[in-house]
Amino acid sequence: MESIIIDHDRCIHCGMCSNVCVRKVIDDSEDILKLRDMECISCGHCKAACPEDAIEIPDLYAEEFIPFSRVPDFTSPEKLLTFFRARRSTRIYKETPVEKDTIEQIIEAGRFAPTGGNRQPLRYVASNSLEKIDEIRTLTFDSLLKQVDQMVNPTKSKSNTDAAPSVVYRTMLDYAELIKDMARACDKGVDRLLWHAPALIAIHASKEVESPEIEAGLCAMQMVLMAEALGLGTCFIGFINMASDNSPELKKVMQIPDHHRVITAFVAGYPDVNYYRLVSRKPAQVRWM
Ligand SMILES: Cc1cc2nc3c(=O)[nH]c(=O)nc-3n(C[C@H](O)[C@H](O)[C@H](O)COP(=O)(O)O)c2cc1C
Repeated sequence: MESIIIDHDRCIHCGMCSNVCVRKVIDDSEDILKLRDMECISCGHCKAACPEDAIEIPDLYAEEFIPFSRVPDFTSPEKLLTFFRARRSTRIYKETPVEKDTIEQIIEAGRFAPTGGNRQPLRYVASNSLEKIDEIRTLTFDSLLKQVDQMVNPTKSKSNTDAAPSVVYRTMLDYAELIKDMARACDKGVDRLLWHAPALIAIHASKEVESPEIEAGLCAMQMVLMAEALGLGTCFIGFINMASDNSPELKKVMQIPDHHRVITAFVAGYPDVNYYRLVSRKPAQVRWM
């Protein structure tokens, strides 16, 4: 089956499809468009840029190519920047559950994030079950405390070598006191790990995928911004990937296949906190080249 089908009756030979094609699959150098023997990554740019809708891509969903003629109002630069600056990590949530539909809308935003070569290697797990989130919290603490213990008693550690400490090891060392403090709080019913959030979403990928952190980061950012637009707050939980890399039990409960890794995870829920001021950050350190 062809990766792209061109309707030559509709085509006005404007060349836009070829211009926007990242792999130059479409050759417009002659009177009639031809497909070159190059791999099409099904990014859909050609169909989106064709003024006559003369392109069909069997791999993609035609009904998702919804016509639009302008950038939505929402993306005026000032409004967009305000939206970015208004997003804060939410750590105080209402008990209101997050419906499955809402979580699906958040995941849908992630689905449209860019990926290298349009390979789309990311997978998702999600939960709005308090019991499941309790299990995840318990197993995350188990794994983190075990890792802290192995650092304090290095004979128990598999990585007890003379090699320079890894980044993960140094990160754990920095966090050791914090993790123990969070675990003590958790014993008293105060959740400083998952912040008593009613929903959790994690992004995972095969261990074979090269640098999935970039793709998952881009994807997660689209998801958390969509969550904001839906009236939810979110908080990334770096401790989950730290814990799951060392805990087959946690991966099992999260339904992450053995050959996959959690790349990033965040909790979500309706905020029980208002911010009346936008965020301040350090100035960007830029050098003009
Ligand atoms: C990769 C990553 C991991 C994070 N892990 C945690 C975490 O485990 N727990 C937490 O409360 N916040 C976590 N955060 C939130 C950061 O602390 C927060 O984004 C930062 O302090 C800036 O605050 P803001 O998001 O409210 O602007 C994480 C953020 C990122 C980007």
